[in-house]
Formats: sequence, structure tokens, C-alpha cells
Amino acid sequence: MEATLNINNDNVTGINSEVTDLSQEKDKVLHKKRETVGNPFVENPRMTCRDVFVYYGDKMAINNAGIDVACNEVIAMIGPSGCGKSTFLRCLNRMNDTVESCRVTGDIRIDGMDIYAKNVDVVPLRARVGMVFQKPNPFPKSIYDNVAYGPKIHGLAQNKAEIDEIVETSLKKAGLWEEAKDRLNQPGTGLSGGQQQRLCIARAIAVSPEVILMDEPCSALDPIATAKIEGLIAELRQHYSIVIVTHSMQQAARVSQRTAYFHLGDIIEVGPTERIFTNPRHQLTEDYITGRFG
Ligand SMILES: Nc1ncnc2c1ncn2[C@@H]1O[C@H](COP(=O)(O)OP(=O)(O)OP(=O)(O)O)[C@@H](O)[C@H]1O
Ligand SMILES: [Mg+2]
Repeated sequence: MEATLNINNDNVTGINSEVTDLSQEKDKVLHKKRETVGNPFVENPRMTCRDVFVYYGDKMAINNAGIDVACNEVIAMIGPSGCGKSTFLRCLNRMNDTVESCRVTGDIRIDGMDIYAKNVDVVPLRARVGMVFQKPNPFPKSIYDNVAYGPKIHGLAQNKAEIDEIVETSLKKAGLWEEAKDRLNQPGTGLSGGQQQRLCIARAIAVSPEVILMDEPCSALDPIATAKIEGLIAELRQHYSIVIVTHSMQQAARVSQRTAYFHLGDIIEVGPTERIFTNPRHQLTEDYITGRFG
């Protein structure tokens, strides 16, 4: 009797799997965790991420990710479209909180502080972990006010002279001061795309972040503006940790010290950028960087 029941169950399973569509197959793959190859962890990390899962509704987008962000490093996140790079990046300053269907579980810390703890206020957190988006998005305000806004709302300056100084230093660090100093009261949206992106970087810097997240910050820029941003990223590393998502492997190679390869929600491989690009250990990483996938 029992055997018959088993056979019936197997038959049912068989019928179900025949009608399983490809998207369900993809979800099954996602649920099977792939171990991360290489070394995702560092000594004295600025940020730590452990056992991180992200779901949109019941669809898993990040599958048990564990990785550190070191102090004063640029770490690049690469991988095919839809593999979860932006989703993971947004976990690092709780930007996913703004997406209603999105649920994040796991442990993410900055300087040992659990950023998902109940008592954490996301406004100061997003000052500590700033973000620069793919498309430059200056506020509809003057260049000056774009940079001054953060220090004002976070109470980082006592008077106008102090705010002036923060605005000047931030624009200098962002490599925009010379181009902007004579037009500080003109709208930020009147700048070129590359200048707007540097303005957004100045805005992020103005609140003294520890980490800056950049999601394809050059994809809307021409090669000259891109070169300026890349040069800037190299300088910013002296003061901050930078996590950059990029589709350009040349860019990852130029600006980052470590690279993480994402694939269908898994962090497949993490290592020194040079090694990842010259001697990848995982077949999926090799397929991607040699152009066979993605
Ligand atoms: N707001 C959302 N609601 C539902 N699903 C989402 C949402 N944002 C992303 N996803 C899904 O999560 C998965 C990962 O998307 P994500 O945008 O993180 O990928 P990505 O690696 O940044 O891709 P790209 O390189 O194209 O920017 C995809 O399957 C995507 O469709
Ligand atoms: Mg993305």
C-alpha cells in the first residue's frame, strides 16, 4: 500500500516537473546556494555582510551573500544584467526599504553597528553610507544648495561661514570647484552630465560619509567625463570606501582593488581585481570576463 502511494507521489512530481516553466527552474537554481570562491572577507572591515538574502515578494534576488567592504578600498561589483548587483548595493544603506515588496534578511554592519537594528535611523545612516546613482540627479536647487543641503539638515555646521567652507571643500574634492566657483547660485541642473555627476559626488561627500555606493555612475557619461570620475574615484579612496557597480570590466580593472562577480543572486567569486581578470577561479567568472556569458 505504502509503495503504491510512493509511486503515485513520484508520478505527481513527474507531471509537475514537466509543466514547470523556465522561470521556476531559474528560481530553483537561485535557491541552491553556490559557495563564494576566493576571499570575500578582509581584516579590519569597514562594512560586513553575512547571510544576506533579499526577496521581492517571494522571488529571491540575493541568495545568502557574505562579503566585507574594506577601509579605503574601491570594490567593484560586476555580473550580468539582473543578477542582483543594484539590489545588493541598496542593502548597504537600506535604500531597499523604499521598495515595498522588498525584504532583506541577514546581518549588515558598519563599524560593527547593525544597520538593520530597530533603533537605527536611516537618515544619518544614508549620510554615513552615501549613494551616487546611474543618472545624475541633482536637486532642483542651486549648485551651492545642492551641496549645502545635507550639512544643513544633519546639523554639521553652525553658521554660514562653516557651510561655505564645506561647500568649497566638497566641490574641490569632487573636482568641480574650478568649473563651478563662479556660478554657485546657478541651478545644478544647468551643468553638463559629467559635471552633474561630480556635483552629486560633492553632495554625498559634504556629509562626511564613510562609504560611497556608486551604481553605474559613468554609464550616462562620455569618455572624457568618465575619465574624470574615474580619476576622482581613485582620489576619494584616500578618505572613503567605495563600492561601485559597473558593466565595464575595463572600468572595474582601472578603479578597483577588489572585484566581486555576481551571478543569478549569488556572489560567485571575490578577489583582488587583477587576479579576477587574469586568473579567475570559477568557471562562471571566466565565462563572463571572456565574454562567453552575459
Ligand atoms: N523593485 C523591484 N521589484 C521586483 N523585482 C525587482 C525589483 N528590482 C529588481 N528586481 C529583480 O531583482 C533581480 C535583480 O535586479 P537588480 O536590479 O538588482 O540587478 P542588476 O544586477 O543591478 O541588473 P542591471 O545590471 O541590469 O542593473 C532581477 O531579477 C530584477 O528583476
Ligand atoms: Mg543594476
